Amino acid sequence: MKEVKTYKTLNGPKGLPYLGNMFQIDVSRLHLQIESWEKEFGDVFKIKLAGIKLIVISNPELIQKILKLRPKEFQRASKLNRIIREQGIHGLFNAEHGDWEKHRSIITKGLDVKHQIQFFPELKEITERLYHKWEKDAREGNEVDLQQDFLRFTVDVTTSIAFGIKMNTIEEEGGVIQDHLEKVFPMIFKRINEPIPFHKIFKTKKDKDFEKSLNEIHIFIDEIIKKGKARIAQNPALRENPSNVLEAILVAAETIDGFGDEEVKGNLLILLMAGEDTTAHTLAWSIVELIQNPSAIKTLQSEVDAVLKEDILFQEYEHHNQLKYTEAIANETMRLKPVAPIVLNEPTETIEVDGYLFEKGHRLVIQTRIGAKSETYFTNAEQFNPERWIAASRCPMHNTDAFMPFGAGPRFCPGRNLAMLEMKMVLSMLFRNFNVEMVADNNPIEEILAFTMLSTPYRVKLTKR
Ligand code: HEM
Repeated sequence: MKEVKTYKTLNGPKGLPYLGNMFQIDVSRLHLQIESWEKEFGDVFKIKLAGIKLIVISNPELIQKILKLRPKEFQRASKLNRIIREQGIHGLFNAEHGDWEKHRSIITKGLDVKHQIQFFPELKEITERLYHKWEKDAREGNEVDLQQDFLRFTVDVTTSIAFGIKMNTIEEEGGVIQDHLEKVFPMIFKRINEPIPFHKIFKTKKDKDFEKSLNEIHIFIDEIIKKGKARIAQNPALRENPSNVLEAILVAAETIDGFGDEEVKGNLLILLMAGEDTTAHTLAWSIVELIQNPSAIKTLQSEVDAVLKEDILFQEYEHHNQLKYTEAIANETMRLKPVAPIVLNEPTETIEVDGYLFEKGHRLVIQTRIGAKSETYFTNAEQFNPERWIAASRCPMHNTDAFMPFGAGPRFCPGRNLAMLEMKMVLSMLFRNFNVEMVADNNPIEEILAFTMLSTPYRVKLTKR
């Protein structure tokens, strides 16, 4: 008879009675701790945190199977869903079961290729603003905080494509919505990892700051909803043919049971947050990787010179299909530096998958980077080598089932195509027009996990090519 592995029979690091492995984990380095434990205990192992049983999974075949069994047999971690909801956010990311299906079908329509083509002129406008900022920085010899610039770019893009609102945070001097947004993920992540919700007993300065920022974000979203409602009232034809996600959501709220004001607001908040950090930090990581690989910059520049010719950015939507090497850089960056290296899930009922028994109440810590950096799935897996995405057939190992930066199964990221378009647009514009150099006194660049995995701050100097 086949032996089923249970929590009891799994290996894992030894911990203290009841508290388990709590004091062995620095949450800002959790993904790295998991990678080091995986070497010792294998691709499915257990840990315990204050009585809670967690199973850590990095085996890509098992991960794919589990993620494909959502939303019925598995769901996002209920503690994560609850903490997000406690911030007044109820949307696609933390909806479950039938509720999730409703949210998913409404939100995905507004992020499809048709809307990207429609929105392309605005993407060009936003990218041109970024070009002018960098051109000025280059002229004045400024040190540039690219991470901040990328965050401003992604917020301007999301509010434009998803909400039809033209913002210009790239050219604003501080006091922007990003200052508030950047507090949300780290606080949610902190609260997920707290065994006791301390903030409900005593609020620290950080908790109070966070609440202030959250309030500002809610005010910002309320304003966007007001503008969307006014647009529909002025032009009722939008009810038949909404021009963006905001309008699609507002129409859904008028017509679909169980989709009301809370869901409208929740989804706008989710889109704003999910679309900002992820894309911006992936771009920031791609610069870190490229600067260490000058030959990749050369190949990138010859591609963008050929596609963009005399233009500062690509002019037609279809051009993005010609930027194969630029796309390969984005993929290779996400393979080595996925901004969401951990996806938290749990079984809805006790279930066996591939010889492992997952019980209701177990938490699954799914770590996607281990497979993506393993020789079992990718040749010379530790190396930054964008060519592998172009000449995959020349690599003995190139198994994209182990490449899951956008998740997998029915809940995979619905913003994936938009994110790829944004990244190709920014990378091609940057390297068509500028040389990028790290500032000499940057501290060593390290990974920090704060829900998304970002790099420690760094600055660059830009010079005109
Ligand atoms: C490089 C950029 C991005 C990365 C790496 C990324 C990654 C992810 C990952 C790992 C998930 C979880 C998937 C799963 O559970 O299987 C996710 C979900 C999601 N993402 Fe993204 N994302 C990116 C950009 C975006 C953008 C631009 C948007 C929208 C504007 C977006 C909206 C969402 C939403 C709404 C979900 C929840 C989907 C659901 O639960 O059904 N993401 N993303």
